[in-house]
Amino acid sequence: MSKVNYIHFQFLPMSVRVLFSMVLLVFGTGYLMAMFQVWESHAGKDGNAMLSAKDLMISYSGNPEGTRMETALRGPMSDMLPAEKKTVVFEWLHNKSPQEDFDSKIDPILQEHCVACHNPGANPHLPDLSNFDGVSKVTATDTGMTIATLVRVSHIHLFSITFIFFIIGYIYTHAYVKPAWFKCVVLATPFLSLLVDIAAWYLTKLWTGFAWVIIIGGALYGLCFAIMWFTSMYQIWFYKVPQEIVDSEGRLPSLHKA
Ligand code: HEC
Repeated sequence: MSKVNYIHFQFLPMSVRVLFSMVLLVFGTGYLMAMFQVWESHAGKDGNAMLSAKDLMISYSGNPEGTRMETALRGPMSDMLPAEKKTVVFEWLHNKSPQEDFDSKIDPILQEHCVACHNPGANPHLPDLSNFDGVSKVTATDTGMTIATLVRVSHIHLFSITFIFFIIGYIYTHAYVKPAWFKCVVLATPFLSLLVDIAAWYLTKLWTGFAWVIIIGGALYGLCFAIMWFTSMYQIWFYKVPQEIVDSEGRLPSLHKA
């Protein structure tokens, strides 16, 4: 008889099982949204629509051949301009963004397609594209996310992701999973991957190969999230623990001891 020292979902009150299920449902939806957001903010920066290690290298460490303007127009801002106008802007950027062409060719495009959002009145946090000085700030060589941005995003990630994995991990501790070491590995991996993932954001600035660590870290916590989510949801509603480990009253022995 295997030793079991936790309470399986099956022996929790219906109210707790409903609560756990609803939390899983909302976290699952949140996770899908987060995946979509990662895609939206990084995919396509290298000119190819798929999300790749190259995209992450550009996001974190910048693009020696590019500018923030070009990166944005190949990524999140790509729908803002028709292709022929994009070509005009790229040509101008590749010619080192001279001011005389700005006034005649570029300014009218930006006024028409960009300035509605990109002006200090509408949105003080976005680059100001309403005049040459503002535009110059995003036409300098792209050096990726600043350390200040990384610090801001890291502390938000560290707190919020820990919180999510604590809750979903706590729910999962009630699942019947053998061997016990596997359960522990699934519980611990997301926290370790989170630390490694965030360290890799900074390290990618030093050596772009660390973009692969970001991808592997992200894949690992995605995998653990999926294992915990599906195991818990399934066991909450459909699974009965094996007869040989429950006592004559149908309960796990440890329930009486603990
Ligand atoms: C509907 C509003 C809107 C319009 C129109 C718009 N943008 Fe943006 N832009 C944003 C928002 C919001 C962000 C910040 C979030 C992001 O990066 O996705 C942003 C970010 C940027 C950035 C900064 C990216 C970085 O490196 O941080 C650049 C450059 C940019 N836009 C260029 C443009 C250009 C060029 C156009 C016109 C072709 C344009 N945008 C049109 C809303 C807009």
